[in-house]
Amino acid sequence: MKLFCYSLLLASLLTAQPSAAQSVSRTGTPAAAVQPTVLHGPYLQQVTPTSIQIRWRTDIPATSRVDLFSDRKKTQKIVSDDKLVTEHEVRLDGLKPATKYFYSFGDKTSVTPADDQFFVTAPKTGATDEVRFWVLGDFGNSSQTQADVRDAVMKESRRPDLWVWLGDNAYSKGKDEEFEKHVFDVYGQTHFKNLPFYCIPGNHDYGGQRTDFNIPYFNLFTMPTAGEAGGVPSGSESYYAFDYGNVHFVALDSYGKLDGTHFLWDTTGRQVEWLKKDLAANKQPWTIVVLHHPPYTKGSHDSDREKDLVAIRQNLVPILERYQVDLVLSGHSHVYERTHPIRGHYGLVDTFEPKNIVSAAVEGDTKEYRVGNGKQGIIYIVAGSGGQRGGQAAGWPMPAAVYSNNTEGGSLLIDVKKTRMQVRWLCQDGKVRDDFSILK
Ligand SMILES: [Fe+2]
Repeated sequence: MKLFCYSLLLASLLTAQPSAAQSVSRTGTPAAAVQPTVLHGPYLQQVTPTSIQIRWRTDIPATSRVDLFSDRKKTQKIVSDDKLVTEHEVRLDGLKPATKYFYSFGDKTSVTPADDQFFVTAPKTGATDEVRFWVLGDFGNSSQTQADVRDAVMKESRRPDLWVWLGDNAYSKGKDEEFEKHVFDVYGQTHFKNLPFYCIPGNHDYGGQRTDFNIPYFNLFTMPTAGEAGGVPSGSESYYAFDYGNVHFVALDSYGKLDGTHFLWDTTGRQVEWLKKDLAANKQPWTIVVLHHPPYTKGSHDSDREKDLVAIRQNLVPILERYQVDLVLSGHSHVYERTHPIRGHYGLVDTFEPKNIVSAAVEGDTKEYRVGNGKQGIIYIVAGSGGQRGGQAAGWPMPAAVYSNNTEGGSLLIDVKKTRMQVRWLCQDGKVRDDFSILK
């Protein structure tokens, strides 16, 4: 049986690829009545330099199997699980850093190969390989904006290495069927099979309630709660850290009432206690914090008037400043806003003063910032127009912002090459409307 499957598999790899619909038999024969149908996936979770998880969902309980190939011909590894499940999770360990692997997936008797089923492991932690991150916020609504923002990224000559979601991933209540329609259907053929991602929850993923954690978001995605991908183990799916190359990411939950007692901005809570430990232990030269709720915005949300945003600015921002974070990326407001590198701006937006700008850049240069000698403010970006778009609160554009835009949809492409980080806001029409670099 094995020989039969492998010969078919190799033939498929060398010839035409199977169609998107995988409800037919994976061995190319007419589907048997008991053959499970793949409802969504495969999708790639928790990528590290030496491991990854491949997930997919079937309509009926089935066994799981992933075959791994290093060069499309030589089977390198087969991992299988006899458990009958509909939510399949297969972890592959012992991989080489920064290496491309092809894979097939299915049940124990047959697997689906395809040319676009591949992944690249993360670079060795601390390595200075050039990496590209695609950062997308407030996207899952099946709008034309969502499709256009996605397509603009696909037209780039260099594909991203890692995808990061900024929350409000599936509108409007984060229901399972909304993830299906607005997320898996939209990126299933273009990105899920070959681009690993990390994510954070937004208020819509919680369905607007803050204390029930049995929500589809947590069931669908696999977070590195035990420090599997770097950083201090969080012990929580809500917040965690990971390393990718020489960049340290911290992913926060800015909506849930964790342990039933603490919001993110309650700085005595478990999340902030962990955050401080993680940032203190971080040795990576670059640090990016992602949280859905922005401390500074005047778009479809107003950081002067909304309690979460005010409290995050007052209570959390001083902690981020203490540990020399480079970038803070948020969504929630369905606009784009990019601040100067700032420190000490905890009041209402119109209390911003030029002295809050902390940078060794040539004065007035908003395209290139040089970090050194303790001269580092944090650049805050709201990139909440990956599908949703528009909104303007009184006071727009805020004085701390270098650039603001509430008419275009877009997403961020972040290129890190050794000591330079370049950030570009790529709009749905393919134009880059904001870009800057940080050097250190
Ligand atoms: Fe939101």
